[in-house]
Amino acid sequence: MVNDVLFNGAGRLIPHRMAEELPMPGSPPRSARFDGRVVVVSGAGSRDERIGNGRAAAILLASAGARVALLDRDRDRAQSTARMVAGGGGTSIVLEADVSEPDCCEAAVKEVVAQFGSVYGLVNNVGISSPPGTAVDVDPDEWDLGMRVNVKSMMLLSKYCLPHMIAAGGGSIVNVSSGAGPPGGPPSLLHPTAKAAVIGLTQAMARQHGRSGVRVNCVAPAGERGGWDTGHAVRFLLSDEARWITGVVFPVGAGGLSPPPGAPQDGPVQPDGA
Ligand SMILES: NC(=O)c1ccc[n+]([C@@H]2O[C@H](COP(=O)([O-])OP(=O)(O)OC[C@H]3O[C@@H](n4cnc5c(N)ncnc54)[C@H](O)[C@@H]3O)[C@@H](O)[C@H]2O)c1
Repeated sequence: MVNDVLFNGAGRLIPHRMAEELPMPGSPPRSARFDGRVVVVSGAGSRDERIGNGRAAAILLASAGARVALLDRDRDRAQSTARMVAGGGGTSIVLEADVSEPDCCEAAVKEVVAQFGSVYGLVNNVGISSPPGTAVDVDPDEWDLGMRVNVKSMMLLSKYCLPHMIAAGGGSIVNVSSGAGPPGGPPSLLHPTAKAAVIGLTQAMARQHGRSGVRVNCVAPAGERGGWDTGHAVRFLLSDEARWITGVVFPVGAGGLSPPPGAPQDGPVQPDGA
């Protein structure tokens, strides 16, 4: 079977088990662990008892050894996530911050560095789908607010985290965009517009900061039951396993099948993300 063999350096197939025992030339195995690394997650709470994308990412990162800073404008929501992190033996701090506000972002990152000493990773997860409406009926002021929360927030947190990553020789950022909207067209013009901007921001930042060792990627979840699946994708992209990956848009949506056939339903808390 193809899965049971690998190519060796001379291009010959070797059994998989044997390959694991051989010294691998070139690059050493890459770690999926974060031991002690500090990761900031925005929107680390969830609107309800669901496991939202930020909450899932935070729990999974902490379970891999990251020290996680849980930012949310709603402290109680972030505190629920902190309890889940602690339940799995992880380390986190909760910071109340509206990430659409420059001062809040600056103060939050300052506090993270004061408490944890560094910043390795950033998950720009906050996003809202309002205001609803087409170009004809959307409220222009609400539009500005939507762009601030969805897009400016990602620039702002990056602005304050990046100097710490660059000073440390590198880091990793994952922005949360979105996959295809509902069939028949999106109810909000703002949401797909903002999420497309997140992709542009990701690709431009990847090019601007790659030489400083900072990777910037985004995930594009689709469907209502992203949670753990998005969290796993975020954790992979943040990790050293993805160290040669930057500027990508990583779809998380089972190719449009939602849920994927045979997938278990997401329960309220599954720290292992199973
Ligand atoms: N849920 C989905 O079906 C889905 C699908 C595709 C993409 N996404 C994206 O995933 C991300 C998370 O969505 P979700 O539905 O998993 O999470 P959610 O909406 O349940 O929770 C996100 C958290 O963000 C916080 N928040 C909102 N505005 C904030 C602000 N200005 N400052 C700080 N915190 C703020 C909320 O208090 C909440 O706790 C968003 O970017 C969303 O667009 C979600």
